Amino acid sequence: MSDLIYSQRLDRLTASLSEQNLDGIYITNMTNVRYMTGFTGSAGSCLVTMDNQYFFSDGRYLTQSKSEVKGFNRIIGNEAHLKMMSKNCDLSDGIKLGFEADFVSVSLFNNMKKQFTHVNWEKTSRIIEELAAVKDDTELDALRTAVEITDQVYKEVLPMIKVGVTEKEIANELSFRYRAYGDGEAYSPIVATGANSALPHAVSGDRPFEKGDFIVIDAAAKYAGYHADMTRTPVVGEATDRHREIYEIVKVSQQKGLDGVKAGLSCKDADALTRNHIDGAGYGEYYIHSTGHGLGLEIHTMPRLSSMSTDTLQENYVVTIEPGIYIPEWGGVRIEDDVIIQKNGCEVLNQTSKELMILD
Ligand code: GLY
Ligand code: MN
Ligand code: MN
Repeated sequence: MSDLIYSQRLDRLTASLSEQNLDGIYITNMTNVRYMTGFTGSAGSCLVTMDNQYFFSDGRYLTQSKSEVKGFNRIIGNEAHLKMMSKNCDLSDGIKLGFEADFVSVSLFNNMKKQFTHVNWEKTSRIIEELAAVKDDTELDALRTAVEITDQVYKEVLPMIKVGVTEKEIANELSFRYRAYGDGEAYSPIVATGANSALPHAVSGDRPFEKGDFIVIDAAAKYAGYHADMTRTPVVGEATDRHREIYEIVKVSQQKGLDGVKAGLSCKDADALTRNHIDGAGYGEYYIHSTGHGLGLEIHTMPRLSSMSTDTLQENYVVTIEPGIYIPEWGGVRIEDDVIIQKNGCEVLNQTSKELMILD
């Protein structure tokens, strides 16, 4: 990503800090460190104040951080980050610094208070997550590519699903190809068949596919750090009337979600778009999760499309729409697409068909 993108992020962050009467923020969540600096390593933190920015890491990342980190003073050493901060950053008496209360451990917080007695530490929540929820063009391109890889891999692997092949064998094929074409899997692929398909987050095991099984395939690629997320639910061998009925209810519910989401809609109402249809069809008790979630540098991020959410959809949020029905001991169906929220609707990224697929 270009230097300009990182300086725009910094401008948006400092504007947000000013609105909240903060003089700066200490960022320790690694996804947020990456979003602000470009650093992709596993250990780093950063301090942003109104007139300066510092990135802290250790000797392992001397070279990597030099090429990745944009627009921050890099302080690399083998001391604790707070120690390096106290030696290198001139923090005025009474400065009001935010910290990410959702991620800072009690021990780190105690050290912050002990080492910086002249700093007023203020709890903050979701400051960077709110900025990162609105995607810029480069991020949208990365997400589009992640979804294209996901569609392509699904097309390649689907013909391998046959009676006798196991969940794990298909999960491994998917993962191998995501790595070959992109960064790798966005999350551990869920390939869940028979009764296992009634578990929304099933773990793929050694169960072979049998005639009459639904197979929930929830699997996707990551590209340039950005996560796709897709689910399709084919049937092996033959579909009964019950398979067809349940599949159709989920398909219509999902379409209602796609048709109804747009900027300005509350996430609570977005959840109701899919839920009302499943409730109306009499299967509400089997729809045991929320409608969707934001995608980005993490697989589950802001916003949550749920009945408890207080968020509102905004233009260029990228979210999933993924209703499902899960009948214990029998099986489940989920259909999931990724969409870019627009002013008057959304753009659906996934091209994989949602017709009920009956595999030989
Ligand atoms: N793949 C996890 C989810 O759909 O949320
Ligand atoms: Mn999802
Ligand atoms: Mn998923």
